[in-house]
Amino acid sequence: MKLLRLLGPIALMALLLLATGCERKVVYESKESSALTSCFTCHGDADSRLIQAEGEYDNSVHASGNNVDYTNRRSCGRCHSDNGFLDYLATGADKAPYDHPAAIHCFTCHAPHTSGSLALRTTAAVTLANGDTFDHGEGNLCASCHQARMGANAIDTDDYEITSNRWGPHHSMQADILNGSNCYEIEGYTYEKSTHATQVPNACIGCHMANPQVHDGYKIGGHSWNMIDEETGSDLSSVCTGCHTTAEDYNYDNIQTDVVAMIDTLREQLVDFGVLAFSQGEYLPNVPTDDTLTIADKNVAGTLFNYLMIEGDRSEGVHNPAYVRSVLANSIAYMNSVMIGKRRYGPIASH
Ligand code: HEC
Ligand code: HEC
Ligand code: HEC
Ligand code: HEC
Ligand code: HEC
Ligand code: HEC
Repeated sequence: MKLLRLLGPIALMALLLLATGCERKVVYESKESSALTSCFTCHGDADSRLIQAEGEYDNSVHASGNNVDYTNRRSCGRCHSDNGFLDYLATGADKAPYDHPAAIHCFTCHAPHTSGSLALRTTAAVTLANGDTFDHGEGNLCASCHQARMGANAIDTDDYEITSNRWGPHHSMQADILNGSNCYEIEGYTYEKSTHATQVPNACIGCHMANPQVHDGYKIGGHSWNMIDEETGSDLSSVCTGCHTTAEDYNYDNIQTDVVAMIDTLREQLVDFGVLAFSQGEYLPNVPTDDTLTIADKNVAGTLFNYLMIEGDRSEGVHNPAYVRSVLANSIAYMNSVMIGKRRYGPIASH
C-alpha cells in the first residue's frame, strides 16, 4: 500500500486495472469509506451521478468563486475557499495567504481519491459562536461555514461600543437561525422555537439538496443548493408539501409576508433611533467614520444584532418560523417601549 501511495494516480489506475480487471463496486449507495479499489467505481462509462452533480454544481453560488479573493485576508479563507477550509479542518488554524486560492468545489466536501468513497470530509457537530451546539447529521458540513461569526452573548454591557459598520454576525448565520440559537434574548420576554432542524433529515441537505429527479435543468436542488430559480421562479416547494400538505409555496402560513413586514418595521425603528443607516448600498450599523457608535442600552444593541441576523439569513422565517416570529415581535415591542416621545410602530404581526 505504501508503494501504491507513492505512485501517481494514472500509474495507480493502470496497476489497479491489471490487478482487479474491470471489477465495479457501487460506492454511491454505501457511502462507506473503502479502499480505492478501482477508478472505474466512479469514473466508469455509465456513471451518470457524477455528471448530474457536475451539472447542478455549475449553477451554484459555491462554484461562482464570488468573494474567493477574500481568501488571503486572514480569518476569511476558512469559509471562502477550498484551501482555507481544508487547512482549517486539518489544523484548526488559518494558513492564508495562498498562491492559488480556489473556490469551493468537489474536493472541498468529498475526498474520493483519499477515501475511495464519496463520504463527506466532515460531519462533526459544530459549536456556534454563542457556545450552542449544532448537531444535525450531514447538515453539520454546511454549518461549518454557514454560522454567525459573533455570539449575541458578547453584548453584555450598557454603553456598548461599536467601532466598525461591519460589526455583527456576518452573512452566514443560517445554522444559528435553523437551530433556534444566537439571537439576542431580552430578559422577561418569551421565545419560541420551531423544530425544522430535527424534523428535516440532515437539516440543510434535506431541503437544499432535495431533488430525487432533476428539476428545472439542474438550476435548483441537488448540488446547485438553490431553493429557487430566480429567472423562472420555479422552486422546490414540493419538499414542504411532504410535511405541510396544504403548502403551495415557501410562504406557507404567510411566514415570509409576515417576516418581511416585521423586518421593515424593525429597520424603520432602528433608523429612527439612530443606530442603523443606509450606506454603501445597504443598511449597516450607524458608525461615524473613524469613530465609535455607543449604544446606551445594551438591549437596543441586541435588537440591532437581531435585525442583522434575521435579515441576513434570507429565508424570511422559513428556517425557523416560531423563533424568527418571536425574536422580531419582541424586538419591535422593546423598541416601541424605549422610543418614548418618538413615533411608535405597530400593529405587530404575531401568532
Ligand atoms: C469514490 C469515487 C472516485 C474514485 C474511486 C476515483 N475518483 Fe477521480 N474523481 C471523483 C470525483 C467526485 C471527481 C470530481 C469530478 C469533477 O471534477 O467534476 C474526480 C475527478 C478526477 C479527475 C479530474 C481531476 C480534477 O481536478 O477535476 C481525475 C484525473 C481523476 N478523478 C482520476 C482518478 C483516478 C486515476 C482514480 C483511480 C486511482 C480515481 N479518480 C478514482 C471521484 C472518484
Ligand atoms: C464562518 C465562515 C465565514 C467566515 C470566517 C467569513 N465568511 Fe464571508 N460568508 C460566509 C458565508 C457562508 C457567506 C454566504 C452567506 C449567504 O450567501 O447567505 C458569506 C458571504 C460573504 C460575502 C458576500 C455577501 C453578499 O451579500 O454577497 C462577503 C463580501 C463576505 N462573506 C466577506 C467576508 C470577509 C471579508 C471575511 C473575513 C473578514 C469573511 N467573509 C469571513 C462565511 C464566512
Ligand atoms: C458544499 C459541499 C459539497 C460540494 C462542493 C460537493 N458535494 Fe457532492 N455531496 C455533498 C453532500 C452533502 C452529499 C450528500 C447528499 C445527500 O445525502 O443527498 C453529496 C453527494 C454526492 C454524490 C452522491 C453520493 C451518494 O452516495 O449518492 C455525488 C456523486 C457527488 N456528491 C459528487 C460531487 C461532485 C462531482 C462535486 C463537484 C462537481 C461535488 N459532489 C461537490 C456535498 C458536496
Ligand atoms: C467551505 C465553506 C462552505 C461550506 C462547507 C458550505 N458553504 Fe454554502 N456558501 C459558502 C460561501 C462562502 C458562500 C457564498 C459564496 C459567495 O458569495 O462568495 C456560500 C453560498 C451558499 C448558498 C447560496 C447563497 C446565495 O447567495 O444564494 C447556498 C444556498 C449555500 N451556500 C448552501 C450550502 C449548503 C446547503 C451547504 C452544505 C451542503 C453548504 N452551503 C456548505 C460556504 C460554504
Ligand atoms: C420533515 C417535515 C417538514 C418539512 C420538510 C418542512 N416542515 Fe415546516 N414544520 C414541520 C413541523 C413538524 C412544524 C411544526 C412544529 C414546529 O413549529 O417546529 C413545522 C412548522 C412550520 C411553520 C410554522 C407553522 C405555523 O403554523 O406557523 C412554517 C411556516 C413552516 N413549517 C414552513 C415550511 C416550509 C416553507 C417548508 C419547505 C421549505 C417546510 N416547512 C418544510 C415540519 C416540516
Ligand atoms: C425547511 C427547509 C430548509 C432547511 C432545513 C434549510 N433551508 Fe435554507 N432556505 C430554505 C428556503 C425555503 C429558503 C428561501 C428561498 C427563497 O424564498 O428565496 C432558504 C434560503 C437559504 C439561503 C439564502 C439563499 C437562497 O437560496 O435564497 C441560504 C444561504 C440557506 N438557505 C442556507 C441554508 C443552510 C446552510 C441550512 C442549514 C444550516 C439551511 N439553509 C436549511 C429552506 C431550508
